[in-house]
Amino acid sequence: MANSVNQLGLIGKSLSHSFSKSYFADKFKRQGIRNYRYDHFELQSINELKPLLERVPRLVGLNVTIPYKLAVIPLMDQLSPEASAIGAVNVIKIDSGRLTGFNSDYFGFQTSLLNSLPENWEGKALILGTGGASLAVEAVLKDQGIPFKFVSRTSGTGRVTYQHVREHQMIHNHKLVINTTPLGMHPDLETFPDLDYQNIGNSHFLYDLVYNPESTRFMQLGKAQGAMVKNGLEMLELQAEKSWEIWTQPSVVK
Ligand SMILES: NC(=O)c1ccc[n+]([C@@H]2O[C@H](COP(=O)([O-])OP(=O)(O)OC[C@H]3O[C@@H](n4cnc5c(N)ncnc54)[C@H](OP(=O)(O)O)[C@@H]3O)[C@@H](O)[C@H]2O)c1
Repeated sequence: MANSVNQLGLIGKSLSHSFSKSYFADKFKRQGIRNYRYDHFELQSINELKPLLERVPRLVGLNVTIPYKLAVIPLMDQLSPEASAIGAVNVIKIDSGRLTGFNSDYFGFQTSLLNSLPENWEGKALILGTGGASLAVEAVLKDQGIPFKFVSRTSGTGRVTYQHVREHQMIHNHKLVINTTPLGMHPDLETFPDLDYQNIGNSHFLYDLVYNPESTRFMQLGKAQGAMVKNGLEMLELQAEKSWEIWTQPSVVK
């Protein structure tokens, strides 16, 4: 019986914050799925991926989280068109030793954003953070025709700093603010992006990719100003279900 179990899992550096294992354990129980199991595999460096694949030959699929969504790309045999366009991989399908990289964050964020934004919403957005998840957010905003600016701790091409956003009160005419930084994520509950929250009002929508805790300081500060807020739980569930579909259905990437 144990021989027929397919192994799935999550790779990342520190996985204590993650809901993925309990999400899939609940799903398997609910749906009576007995031939799959899902575990966390903490890797201190991406060089530990190959030894992991050798050690656990039953691995058929992985999710990828901080800080490896970009670092896994050179280790893939092929990429899906989305992962290639976005430049980040958060799902790996393993088939007869061949690794294919996918991006389900795109689908999760797009579906969740469209579920939440009022119909015919028009406006500009700020993307806080320039890491792996921000690339999927960027691709979705581009495809939805929503103009945006990246906000980063460091200045550079195509981005502005938090100081610049505050000094120019950019928040006034950027009504959609998306947090893709880990600020506020368990266990750093008291941290939040350095914005001029007093300039946020009831026409703002603050979307936090963080899902643990349910309500972050970023969301609480926005809500106190009358803004609509949303956490990353729906996105997490949508991207997890998309991952499952990728692992269990015949791949369209040849
Ligand atoms: N809900 C979901 O399904 C879902 C999916 C993916 C990710 N996430 C969440 O999204 C967050 C980011 O994930 P990621 O993979 O993009 O992480 P990441 O690659 O580590 O990038 C996060 C970015 O945030 C900024 N940042 C990091 N530490 C910061 C700090 N102390 N203060 C201010 N900015 C900081 C950095 O941008 P700058 O250097 O430019 O400032 C960094 O590139 C995590 O909390 C993750 O759990 C949720």
